Amino acid sequence: MVESIVVDDVTKSFTIRYHRTLKQMSVAALRRQELSNSFNALDGVSFTIQQGESVGLMGLNGSGKSTLLKIINGVMKPDSGSVLTRGRIAGLIATGAGFHPQLSGRENVYLNAAILGMSEAETRRKFDDIVEFSELGKHLDGQVGHYSSGQSARLGFAIAIHVDSDIFLADEVLAVGDRPFKRKCMQRMQEIRESGRTLVYVSHAAASVRKMCDRVIVLESGRVGFDGDVDDGIRYVKYDDGDDTTDDELGADV
Ligand SMILES: Nc1ncnc2c1ncn2[C@@H]1O[C@H](COP(=O)(O)OP(=O)(O)O)[C@@H](O)[C@H]1O
Ligand SMILES: [Mg+2]
Repeated sequence: MVESIVVDDVTKSFTIRYHRTLKQMSVAALRRQELSNSFNALDGVSFTIQQGESVGLMGLNGSGKSTLLKIINGVMKPDSGSVLTRGRIAGLIATGAGFHPQLSGRENVYLNAAILGMSEAETRRKFDDIVEFSELGKHLDGQVGHYSSGQSARLGFAIAIHVDSDIFLADEVLAVGDRPFKRKCMQRMQEIRESGRTLVYVSHAAASVRKMCDRVIVLESGRVGFDGDVDDGIRYVKYDDGDDTTDDELGADV
């Protein structure tokens, strides 16, 4: 087996500042109120993912999933610990990341693809496919800054799936899309999985995780609370009580 992602004892802390202006800070200091507070968004996180594994990353809001994905992707550095990844990484880790709001969708395809490491020739070759997948139609020549979050996610996902990568990271990408688009994305991620690439999929939707993943890692306040079998993981996060019916239906029929 070949190791694809090795996360070793990763810790990341953030500082919350309670007062923004100098005046507010001075007043707070005089009153001996706390000016800031730092906390661990990730705390001693370790796991190894093999090439071709498909892992569902679950956990409550604020448990550190997006932070972990950003560190794996390399856009953020851990305070301590290390992350090793093998091969090219693609995916969607934040809606609108890598887009310039004043440029058109068309221009942003080239910009974003370049950021993701695609050459201009490669982008030109895949351009029509990307545009077709995004279903943006005439909005392709409109400013990305005016896109809805759903449109922006479509374009981001359309580009990401056209990057030849060894690792694909997807952070709640399906949360903002409409139903037909979600189904299409799930199909593509299923293809990515079948092609033997490594997939890390953040989702609250139990059925789609069950459908797509062969392992679940659960984060709890920045720590690995569970790492193992999909059904046990879903039971661990207690998401399996049917309150995400739409996604459950979705997961069941793709
Ligand atoms: N840049 C940042 N500055 C300060 N706090 C942050 C920053 N990014 C994330 N956080 C905090 O870190 C915690 C984990 O966030 P996140 O990784 O986005 O969680 P999740 O994706 O699981 O919902 C949250 O409490 C969030 O508010
Ligand atoms: Mg998140």
